Amino acid sequence: MIKRFAPALALGLALSFPALTPVAQAQQLDLDEVFRCSGETVPQEDCLASREVILNSCTTCHTFVPIVMQSFDENGWRGLLTRHVENGRVSQLSAEQVETLRLYLAENFNGDLPPPELPPALLETWTSY
Ligand code: HEC
Repeated sequence: MIKRFAPALALGLALSFPALTPVAQAQQLDLDEVFRCSGETVPQEDCLASREVILNSCTTCHTFVPIVMQSFDENGWRGLLTRHVENGRVSQLSAEQVETLRLYLAENFNGDLPPPELPPALLETWTSY
């Protein structure tokens, strides 16, 4: 599975760790931790599906960092995603995919749970949009 995400992830990380190969970069991060896919908050399958959507469709303009570091409640995520949809930023996603993603984000990145630990160089990409 992770292999499929590697290109999108490597793209984001290549900017932060230019000296490392994409494969090495991807292995430095525990994606199950970052995206909370260990099955504790949401069923692992749902988490992996949402993670795939994020890495494939949400990392062309900014990294995944603002997504996992930003905490919103359900309405906050609705507002953010509506803004993205209305601006045509994620036109490849169906309304159903966006809604599934919103619920996943609200469940996992909502201010109740501490944000994932990320290397400082990645955190710097938080405000790169
Ligand atoms: C076509 C470019 C583009 C894509 C693709 C994109 N975004 Fe964004 N994103 C932006 C821009 C521009 C901003 C800053 C302006 C704003 O907040 O709307 C942003 C900001 C954000 C923020 C930070 C908001 C804040 O208040 O700090 C989050 C979180 C976010 N996007 C999530 C997502 C998610 C989730 C996806 C995939 C569903 C996604 N983005 C895909 C362009 C994009």
